Amino acid sequence: MTDLDIKETDVEIKVPEKEPERQFFYMEKCRKLVEQRVKLKKRSLRYHVETFGCQMNFKDSEKLEGVLAAMGIEAEESEKADIVIYNTCTVRENANTKVYGRIGYLGKLKKQNPDMIIALCGCMMQEPAAVEKIKNSYSFVDLIFGTHNIFKLAELLYNVFEDRLCGKEKKHRMLIDVWKDTDKIVEELPSVYKYSFKAGVNIMFGCNNFCTYCLVPDVRGRERSRRPADILNEIRDMASKGIVEVMLLGQNVNSYGKGLDEPADFAGLLSKVDGIEGIERIRFMTSHPKDLSDELIDVMARSKHICRHIHLPLQSGSDRLLKAMNRHYTAADYMKLVEKLRKAMPDIAITTDIIVGFPGETEQDFSDTLKVCEEVAFDSAFTFIYSKRTGTPAAAMEDQVPPDVVKERFDRLLEVIRRTSEEKASALTGKTVQVLVEETDREGLEAFDKKKDQVYLTGRLENNLLVHFAGSSDLIGKLVNVKLDECKGFYFLGSLCQK
Ligand code: 5AD
Ligand code: SF4
Repeated sequence: MTDLDIKETDVEIKVPEKEPERQFFYMEKCRKLVEQRVKLKKRSLRYHVETFGCQMNFKDSEKLEGVLAAMGIEAEESEKADIVIYNTCTVRENANTKVYGRIGYLGKLKKQNPDMIIALCGCMMQEPAAVEKIKNSYSFVDLIFGTHNIFKLAELLYNVFEDRLCGKEKKHRMLIDVWKDTDKIVEELPSVYKYSFKAGVNIMFGCNNFCTYCLVPDVRGRERSRRPADILNEIRDMASKGIVEVMLLGQNVNSYGKGLDEPADFAGLLSKVDGIEGIERIRFMTSHPKDLSDELIDVMARSKHICRHIHLPLQSGSDRLLKAMNRHYTAADYMKLVEKLRKAMPDIAITTDIIVGFPGETEQDFSDTLKVCEEVAFDSAFTFIYSKRTGTPAAAMEDQVPPDVVKERFDRLLEVIRRTSEEKASALTGKTVQVLVEETDREGLEAFDKKKDQVYLTGRLENNLLVHFAGSSDLIGKLVNVKLDECKGFYFLGSLCQK
C-alpha cells in the first residue's frame, strides 16, 4: 500500500457551517488521517512551526500549534518534520528576503522527504506580490494562507491531506487561501503555550492608524476588539493552568474597545485583568502615544500586578517627520506623556521604537530625534533603518535618504541608546528586585566563574531586563527575589535571596 492508497473510512456527515465547530470537525477528520498515517509509517508525525517577527506572530504560532497538537501531530525542534509552517513577517524588506532563503532550504528537505507538507502564513502572505513570487519560484509549497484565516488551519490542512492521501489529485497543487480583510474573530480554538508560566493574549486585531511607512494596516486589516468577557475567560483559564504572567497584545492597545457593542476601554480592561486571581504580572504592547489616557496611567500606578514598564514607540523626535509619518503627536506631546508617566510611577521603565532614514529626514530632523532620546533616556529601544514598503504612502515620497547617511545616523543613535540604557540599568545595581524565573541558563554564560554542577537561571525583571543567577531549576516559572550584583549593560549578574 502506498500513501496515495489510504482511504478515509468516515461516512460523510454534514460539515458544520458555524465556527469554531467547523474547525473542530476538521481537526477530528485530520486526526483520523494522521492516525492512519502513523500506523503506515510506524512512527509519529511531527510538525515544526517557525515564527518570524513580533509577539503577535508568536501568539498566532501558539494557536497553529494548538490545532496541530489536537490532530495528534507532535512538535519537532528542527525543520526535518512532516509539516513545516513558516509564520512570516513583512514589516521590513529584509524580513521577506530572509523568508525566501529559508523556503529554498525547505525545498531541499522536501526532495529528501516528498511527503513533507510546507505551509506559509502570516503577514507576508497578505502581499499579492509575495504570493506571486512563491507561486512562480517555489512551486513545491503546498499551502499558503493569510493573517485573517489562520483559524482555518484544520480545514486547509484537511484539503491538503485529501489531495495527498486520498489520491483525488495526484498532481501537486498549491492551495492558496488569503483573505483581504475580515470582521470575524473565532474564539475557543486550542492553543499551546510555549512557556508554562507566561503567555500572550490577543485583545484586538488589526490597526487603523495608517502610519505612512507601515504595511501592518494592509496585512492585518482594520482594528477589531475581542469582547472583554472572552478575554477575561481566557486569562482565567490560563491562570488555572499555572500561567502567572500575561502580555495583552494589540497593535494599538490604547484604542481597545472601539466598535464593541458594550462600552469598554483599555484602562477598564486592565483593571479587570488585574483582579484575576493567580495572575502576578501583566504586560501589554503596543501603546500608541496619541491614545495613551490618564485613566491608563492611573490604573497602572495603582496596580500591584501591572509591570512598571511601557513600550511607547516614538518613531521620530522631529515634528515635521512625525506629521509626515501620520503619527498625530509632537515631540513635546511625547515628552509630556513621559513626564506624566514618571510623575505617577518614578520607577517606570520606558522603551521605544525609532525609525532612522524616513524619507526627507534631514540632519536637523535626526538631531531632534537624538535630543528626545537624550531627554527621555530610554531604558531600551528597538532601532530600525527605514525600509521602503511598496504600497505605503512613504514609498512614493521623494527624498529617500541615501543608505550611507542612514547608516551613519543609525550608529549615532545606537550609541546614545546604549549609553542612556546602560545608565538606567546601572542605577539598579545593588538593589534586590522580584524576577520571574524563565529558564536555566544556556551554555556559554562566560561572565560567571561557573561552578561545576551548579545550575544557573535566567530571570526577567519587571522592566524586562534579564538577570542570571545560581539557583535550582524547580524555580522556573516562580517569582523570586534576586540581588542585582553587577550590571553588564543589558543584563545583570545576581544572587538569589533566600527568604
Ligand atoms: N521601516 C522601518 N521600520 C518600520 N517599522 C514599521 N514599519 C517600518 C518600516 N517600513 C517599525 C516601527 C514599528 C515597529 C514594529 O517596526 O518602528 O513601531
Ligand atoms: Fe504600523 Fe502605525 Fe499601526 Fe503601529 S500604529 S502597526 S506603526 S500603522
